[in-house]
Amino acid sequence: MAHTTSSPLIIAHRGAPGYLPEHTLAGYGIGATLGADYIEPDLVFTKDGHLVARHEHYLSTTTDISDHPEFADRKTEKHNHDGADWFTEDFTLAEIKTLRARQVMVARSHAADGLFEIPTFDEVIALAQSESERLGRTIGIYPETKSPSYFASLGYDYATEIIGALERAGWNEKEAPVFIQSFEMQILKDLRTKTQLPLIYLLESKSALTMSEIAVFADGIGPYKKLLVDAEGQSSGFINDAHAAGLKVHPWTFRADQLPDAFQTAHAEFEFFFNLGVDGVFTDFPDAAYAARLASVAASTK
Ligand code: G3P
Ligand code: CA
Repeated sequence: MAHTTSSPLIIAHRGAPGYLPEHTLAGYGIGATLGADYIEPDLVFTKDGHLVARHEHYLSTTTDISDHPEFADRKTEKHNHDGADWFTEDFTLAEIKTLRARQVMVARSHAADGLFEIPTFDEVIALAQSESERLGRTIGIYPETKSPSYFASLGYDYATEIIGALERAGWNEKEAPVFIQSFEMQILKDLRTKTQLPLIYLLESKSALTMSEIAVFADGIGPYKKLLVDAEGQSSGFINDAHAAGLKVHPWTFRADQLPDAFQTAHAEFEFFFNLGVDGVFTDFPDAAYAARLASVAASTK
Protein backbone atom coordinates (compact mmCIF):
# COMPACT_ATOMS: atom_id res chain seq x y z
CA MET A 1 0.00 0.00 0.00
CA ALA A 2 1.41 3.43 -0.94
CA HIS A 3 0.74 7.07 -0.10
CA THR A 4 -2.37 8.47 -1.78
CA THR A 5 -1.83 10.75 -4.76
CA SER A 6 -4.76 12.99 -3.79
CA SER A 7 -3.79 16.57 -3.03
CA PRO A 8 -3.95 18.41 -0.74
CA LEU A 9 -3.96 15.53 1.73
CA ILE A 10 -6.83 15.42 4.20
CA ILE A 11 -5.65 14.38 7.66
CA ALA A 12 -8.33 13.37 10.16
CA HIS A 13 -7.00 15.33 13.14
CA ARG A 14 -7.45 13.13 16.23
CA GLY A 15 -10.11 11.28 14.18
CA ALA A 16 -13.23 13.30 13.52
CA PRO A 17 -13.68 15.14 16.85
CA GLY A 18 -16.18 17.51 15.27
CA TYR A 19 -18.52 14.52 15.46
CA LEU A 20 -17.20 11.87 17.88
CA PRO A 21 -14.84 11.85 20.90
CA GLU A 22 -11.25 12.26 19.78
CA HIS A 23 -8.77 9.41 19.47
CA THR A 24 -11.27 6.56 19.30
CA LEU A 25 -11.44 3.85 16.65
CA ALA A 26 -14.98 4.97 15.85
CA GLY A 27 -13.76 8.54 15.40
CA TYR A 28 -10.91 7.50 13.11
CA GLY A 29 -13.33 5.32 11.12
CA ILE A 30 -15.77 8.19 10.65
CA GLY A 31 -12.85 10.41 9.65
CA ALA A 32 -11.88 7.95 6.93
CA THR A 33 -15.47 7.50 5.81
CA LEU A 34 -15.92 11.27 5.55
CA GLY A 35 -13.03 11.57 3.13
CA ALA A 36 -9.76 11.65 5.05
CA ASP A 37 -6.65 10.17 3.45
CA TYR A 38 -4.85 9.80 6.81
CA ILE A 39 -5.93 9.33 10.40
CA GLU A 40 -3.91 11.06 13.09
CA PRO A 41 -3.20 9.38 16.43
CA ASP A 42 -1.31 11.43 19.02
CA LEU A 43 0.64 8.89 21.09
CA VAL A 44 1.58 8.60 24.77
CA PHE A 45 2.86 5.71 26.90
CA THR A 46 1.14 3.53 29.47
CA LYS A 47 2.98 2.40 32.61
CA ASP A 48 3.73 -0.96 31.01
CA GLY A 49 5.15 0.61 27.87
CA HIS A 50 2.28 0.44 25.40
CA LEU A 51 1.59 3.32 23.02
CA VAL A 52 -1.99 4.55 23.27
CA ALA A 53 -3.80 7.32 21.41
CA ARG A 54 -4.32 10.45 23.53
CA HIS A 55 -3.48 14.08 22.88
CA GLU A 56 -2.32 14.53 26.48
CA HIS A 57 -0.80 12.21 29.04
CA TYR A 58 -3.37 13.44 31.56
CA LEU A 59 -6.74 11.73 31.41
CA SER A 60 -9.31 13.94 33.13
CA THR A 61 -10.61 15.84 30.10
CA THR A 62 -10.86 13.10 27.48
CA THR A 63 -12.02 10.14 29.58
CA ASP A 64 -14.41 9.18 32.38
CA ILE A 65 -11.59 8.45 34.83
CA SER A 66 -13.07 10.78 37.44
CA ASP A 67 -16.01 8.35 37.63
CA HIS A 68 -13.73 5.43 38.56
CA PRO A 69 -13.44 5.30 42.37
CA GLU A 70 -10.86 2.51 42.11
CA PHE A 71 -8.45 5.07 40.60
CA ALA A 72 -9.18 7.98 42.96
CA ASP A 73 -5.92 7.55 44.87
CA ARG A 74 -3.89 7.66 41.66
CA LYS A 75 -4.65 11.35 41.14
CA THR A 76 -1.36 13.15 41.50
CA GLU A 77 0.69 16.19 40.50
CA LYS A 78 3.46 16.27 37.87
CA HIS A 79 5.97 18.98 37.12
CA ASN A 80 4.72 19.36 33.53
CA HIS A 81 1.02 19.79 34.30
CA ASP A 82 -0.96 22.38 36.26
CA GLY A 83 -2.92 20.82 39.10
CA ALA A 84 -3.56 17.22 40.07
CA ASP A 85 -4.71 14.70 37.47
CA TRP A 86 -4.44 11.08 36.37
CA PHE A 87 -1.62 10.29 33.92
CA THR A 88 -1.27 7.51 31.36
CA GLU A 89 2.22 6.59 32.54
CA ASP A 90 0.77 5.61 35.96
CA PHE A 91 -1.73 3.11 34.50
CA THR A 92 -1.29 -0.25 32.80
CA LEU A 93 -2.89 -0.84 29.44
CA ALA A 94 -5.42 -3.17 31.09
CA GLU A 95 -6.44 -0.32 33.42
CA ILE A 96 -6.55 2.23 30.60
CA LYS A 97 -8.84 -0.12 28.70
CA THR A 98 -11.48 0.18 31.45
CA LEU A 99 -11.86 3.91 30.70
CA ARG A 100 -14.21 5.39 28.13
CA ALA A 101 -13.64 8.45 25.96
CA ARG A 102 -15.43 11.77 26.21
CA GLN A 103 -15.87 14.70 23.86
CA VAL A 104 -13.58 17.50 25.02
CA MET A 105 -15.32 20.52 23.55
CA VAL A 106 -18.41 21.65 25.42
CA ALA A 107 -20.25 22.93 22.33
CA ARG A 108 -19.87 19.66 20.40
CA SER A 109 -22.14 16.60 20.66
CA HIS A 110 -21.66 14.52 23.80
CA ALA A 111 -24.02 11.78 22.60
CA ALA A 112 -21.16 9.28 22.26
CA ASP A 113 -19.51 10.01 25.61
CA GLY A 114 -18.86 6.79 27.51
CA LEU A 115 -19.10 4.49 24.48
CA PHE A 116 -15.56 4.02 23.20
CA GLU A 117 -12.32 2.77 24.73
CA ILE A 118 -8.83 4.16 24.26
CA PRO A 119 -7.07 2.46 21.34
CA THR A 120 -3.49 1.26 21.21
CA PHE A 121 -1.23 2.30 18.34
CA ASP A 122 -1.35 -1.27 17.00
CA GLU A 123 -5.15 -1.06 16.91
CA VAL A 124 -5.03 2.26 15.06
CA ILE A 125 -2.72 0.82 12.40
CA ALA A 126 -4.97 -2.24 12.06
CA LEU A 127 -7.98 0.04 11.67
CA ALA A 128 -6.29 2.05 8.91
CA GLN A 129 -5.49 -1.17 7.10
CA SER A 130 -9.01 -2.58 7.43
CA GLU A 131 -10.58 0.78 6.48
CA SER A 132 -8.39 0.83 3.38
CA GLU A 133 -9.88 -2.55 2.42
CA ARG A 134 -13.43 -1.48 3.24
CA LEU A 135 -13.29 1.83 1.40
CA GLY A 136 -11.20 0.64 -1.53
CA ARG A 137 -8.64 3.44 -1.14
CA THR A 138 -5.57 3.91 1.00
CA ILE A 139 -6.14 5.22 4.50
CA GLY A 140 -2.75 6.08 5.95
CA ILE A 141 -1.66 6.98 9.45
CA TYR A 142 0.03 10.12 10.72
CA PRO A 143 1.22 9.38 14.29
CA GLU A 144 2.59 12.12 16.56
CA THR A 145 5.06 11.54 19.38
CA LYS A 146 3.75 13.60 22.30
CA SER A 147 6.37 14.94 24.73
CA PRO A 148 9.14 12.51 23.68
CA SER A 149 11.83 14.07 25.89
CA TYR A 150 9.53 13.80 28.93
CA PHE A 151 8.80 10.14 28.24
CA ALA A 152 12.50 9.52 27.52
CA SER A 153 13.26 10.90 31.00
CA LEU A 154 10.97 8.16 32.37
CA GLY A 155 12.76 5.49 30.34
CA TYR A 156 10.35 5.14 27.42
CA ASP A 157 11.66 5.03 23.85
CA TYR A 158 9.26 6.34 21.20
CA ALA A 159 11.45 5.57 18.22
CA THR A 160 11.80 1.89 19.10
CA GLU A 161 8.13 1.44 20.00
CA ILE A 162 6.72 3.26 16.97
CA ILE A 163 8.99 1.50 14.54
CA GLY A 164 8.29 -1.83 16.25
CA ALA A 165 4.53 -1.38 15.78
CA LEU A 166 4.98 -0.35 12.14
CA GLU A 167 7.25 -3.35 11.52
CA ARG A 168 4.64 -5.70 12.99
CA ALA A 169 2.09 -4.25 10.58
CA GLY A 170 4.40 -4.30 7.56
CA TRP A 171 4.35 -0.49 7.32
CA ASN A 172 7.95 0.45 8.10
CA GLU A 173 8.93 0.79 4.47
CA LYS A 174 9.58 3.89 2.42
CA GLU A 175 6.37 3.72 0.37
CA ALA A 176 4.03 2.81 3.25
CA PRO A 177 1.24 5.37 3.82
CA VAL A 178 2.75 6.78 7.00
CA PHE A 179 4.05 10.16 8.16
CA ILE A 180 5.60 10.50 11.63
CA GLN A 181 5.42 13.93 13.29
CA SER A 182 6.80 15.71 16.33
CA PHE A 183 7.29 19.17 17.83
CA GLU A 184 10.69 17.93 19.09
CA MET A 185 13.65 17.82 16.71
CA GLN A 186 15.66 15.14 18.53
CA ILE A 187 13.09 12.38 18.16
CA LEU A 188 12.93 13.08 14.41
CA LYS A 189 16.72 12.81 14.24
CA ASP A 190 16.51 9.49 16.13
CA LEU A 191 13.78 8.24 13.82
CA ARG A 192 15.81 9.25 10.77
CA THR A 193 18.33 6.53 11.70
CA LYS A 194 15.58 3.91 12.01
CA THR A 195 13.17 4.48 9.15
CA GLN A 196 12.83 5.83 5.64
CA LEU A 197 9.27 6.97 6.30
CA PRO A 198 8.66 10.72 5.84
CA LEU A 199 9.11 12.80 9.00
CA ILE A 200 7.23 16.01 9.75
CA TYR A 201 8.51 18.75 12.06
CA LEU A 202 5.68 20.56 13.85
CA LEU A 203 5.98 24.29 14.44
CA GLU A 204 3.78 26.44 16.65
CA SER A 205 5.77 29.61 15.97
CA LYS A 206 8.51 30.80 13.65
CA SER A 207 11.58 28.55 13.88
CA ALA A 208 15.13 29.76 14.51
CA LEU A 209 16.16 27.15 11.93
CA THR A 210 16.20 27.84 8.20
CA MET A 211 14.14 25.66 5.90
CA SER A 212 17.36 24.06 4.62
CA GLU A 213 18.37 23.20 8.19
CA ILE A 214 14.97 21.62 8.83
CA ALA A 215 15.26 19.65 5.60
CA VAL A 216 18.29 17.83 7.05
CA PHE A 217 16.12 15.89 9.50
CA ALA A 218 12.55 16.27 8.17
CA ASP A 219 10.64 15.83 4.94
CA GLY A 220 7.97 18.37 5.77
CA ILE A 221 6.62 20.87 8.26
CA GLY A 222 3.35 20.87 10.16
CA PRO A 223 2.92 24.57 10.98
CA TYR A 224 0.26 26.39 12.91
CA LYS A 225 -1.80 27.73 10.02
CA LYS A 226 -1.30 31.37 11.04
CA LEU A 227 2.40 31.06 10.12
CA LEU A 228 1.36 30.83 6.49
CA VAL A 229 -0.18 34.32 6.34
CA ASP A 230 1.10 37.81 7.11
CA ALA A 231 -0.59 40.58 9.11
CA GLU A 232 -2.62 41.57 6.03
CA GLY A 233 -3.88 38.02 5.56
CA GLN A 234 -1.72 37.42 2.48
CA SER A 235 0.88 34.71 1.93
CA SER A 236 3.78 35.03 4.37
CA GLY A 237 6.06 33.26 1.91
CA PHE A 238 6.36 30.29 4.28
CA ILE A 239 5.05 27.77 1.76
CA ASN A 240 7.31 28.95 -1.06
CA ASP A 241 10.34 28.86 1.24
CA ALA A 242 9.47 25.38 2.46
CA HIS A 243 8.84 24.08 -1.04
CA ALA A 244 12.13 25.57 -2.23
CA ALA A 245 13.87 23.43 0.42
CA GLY A 246 11.92 20.34 -0.68
CA LEU A 247 9.65 20.35 2.37
CA LYS A 248 5.94 19.51 2.36
CA VAL A 249 3.60 21.83 4.28
CA HIS A 250 0.70 20.34 6.31
CA PRO A 251 -0.85 23.08 8.53
CA TRP A 252 -3.21 22.63 11.50
CA THR A 253 -5.91 22.83 12.73
CA PHE A 254 -8.97 23.49 10.58
CA ARG A 255 -12.17 23.54 12.62
CA ALA A 256 -15.49 24.33 10.98
CA ASP A 257 -16.94 25.38 14.34
CA GLN A 258 -14.03 27.69 15.24
CA LEU A 259 -13.39 29.75 12.12
CA PRO A 260 -10.90 32.61 12.06
CA ASP A 261 -12.54 36.03 11.68
CA ALA A 262 -11.38 36.30 8.07
CA PHE A 263 -13.65 33.44 6.94
CA GLN A 264 -17.43 33.06 6.93
CA THR A 265 -17.39 29.36 6.09
CA ALA A 266 -15.10 26.35 6.45
CA HIS A 267 -15.25 26.02 2.68
CA ALA A 268 -13.84 29.53 2.23
CA GLU A 269 -11.02 28.84 4.67
CA PHE A 270 -10.03 25.60 2.93
CA GLU A 271 -10.25 27.28 -0.47
CA PHE A 272 -7.92 30.06 0.69
CA PHE A 273 -5.30 27.69 2.09
CA PHE A 274 -5.55 25.29 -0.87
CA ASN A 275 -4.89 28.26 -3.18
CA LEU A 276 -1.90 29.24 -1.02
CA GLY A 277 -0.40 25.88 -1.96
CA VAL A 278 -0.58 23.68 1.15
CA ASP A 279 0.18 19.99 0.63
CA GLY A 280 -2.23 18.79 3.29
CA VAL A 281 -4.50 19.93 6.12
CA PHE A 282 -5.19 18.64 9.63
CA THR A 283 -8.91 19.00 10.28
CA ASP A 284 -11.53 18.06 12.88
CA PHE A 285 -14.08 18.03 10.01
CA PRO A 286 -12.71 15.83 7.19
CA ASP A 287 -15.99 16.06 5.27
CA ALA A 288 -15.65 19.84 4.93
CA ALA A 289 -12.10 19.45 3.61
CA TYR A 290 -13.19 16.72 1.23
CA ALA A 291 -15.99 18.86 -0.20
CA ALA A 292 -13.62 21.80 -0.62
CA ARG A 293 -11.05 19.61 -2.37
CA LEU A 294 -13.72 18.27 -4.75
CA ALA A 295 -14.75 21.83 -5.58
CA SER A 296 -11.15 22.84 -6.10
CA VAL A 297 -10.52 19.94 -8.48
CA ALA A 298 -13.73 20.70 -10.37
CA ALA A 299 -12.77 24.38 -10.71
CA SER A 300 -9.31 23.50 -12.01
CA THR A 301 -10.66 21.20 -14.72
CA LYS A 302 -13.19 23.70 -16.11
O1 G3P B 1 -0.09 17.32 14.95
C1 G3P B 1 -0.59 18.39 14.23
C2 G3P B 1 -1.48 19.06 15.14
O2 G3P B 1 -2.33 18.06 15.62
C3 G3P B 1 -0.74 19.67 16.26
O3 G3P B 1 -1.62 20.03 17.17
O4 G3P B 1 -1.91 19.91 19.53
O5 G3P B 1 -3.64 18.97 18.04
O6 G3P B 1 -1.50 17.79 18.36
P1 G3P B 1 -2.18 19.11 18.33
CA1 CA C 1 -1.34 16.06 16.76
